[in-house]
Amino acid sequence: MHAQEAMRARKSIRAFLNRPVERETISRMLDAARWAPSGTNTQPWHVVVTRGATKQRVCAALLEAHRAGVEPQMDYAYYPEAWREPYLSRRRDCGLQLYTTLGIQREDTARRRAQWMANYRAFDAPTALFFFLDSRMDKGSFMDCGMFIQSVMLAALDEGLSTCPQAALVEYPGLVRDILGIEQDRTLLCGMALGYADTADPVNRYRTPREPVEAFTRFLD
Ligand SMILES: Cc1cc2nc3c(=O)[nH]c(=O)nc-3n(C[C@H](O)[C@H](O)[C@H](O)COP(=O)(O)O)c2cc1C
Repeated sequence: MHAQEAMRARKSIRAFLNRPVERETISRMLDAARWAPSGTNTQPWHVVVTRGATKQRVCAALLEAHRAGVEPQMDYAYYPEAWREPYLSRRRDCGLQLYTTLGIQREDTARRRAQWMANYRAFDAPTALFFFLDSRMDKGSFMDCGMFIQSVMLAALDEGLSTCPQAALVEYPGLVRDILGIEQDRTLLCGMALGYADTADPVNRYRTPREPVEAFTRFLD
């Protein structure tokens, strides 16, 4: 698969087949993604691949924390406290597209909640990845990890696999670190559902839009 083709084809998948992903396949993906660039070649990422009982355990704990009403406390602020345009509208449209596709009405809080909670099961993907960063590093390393994470998603596509990067999986970072036995000084950046897409599921049918190149680029000659 050509790089540009892969970039266009990648999209977030939220329903997966009950088909395991071979460890060798995941290793191959990571073996390609490790060639992502990083400032002064620091390679500050750390990945935990959870499958089987470990994946069940971590997901069960996240669901439990959510059900118990524990306030999410990410290691870092992903989003601004005050939302402004154009981001506010894009964010609203993103949720609207999901719920419209699934035929979930605005006032149907039960179905909305059920759909949200599927996040904590990594959308029933057989594999959930967790991406960490050494917390002694600074903001620049977030860029490095972002490039690495996108490389993982493109490598997955090349293996016939699909992904959904997930902030929902890192709402309770202390809990995840405890269960996975990760040092407390590693920042939990995001999770990722990984598996074979269930193409029959309506949730996987929509495609989020993008701004045209002219909207975010200036060519200065
Ligand atoms: C770091 C990160 C965290 C995300 N967290 C979630 C999440 O918790 N749940 C979810 O359903 N989608 C999540 N997404 C997916 C975005 O909603 C999605 O990337 C965006 O709407 C663009 O759609 P696309 O990925 O299908 O192109 C996340 C994306 C990123 C990059």
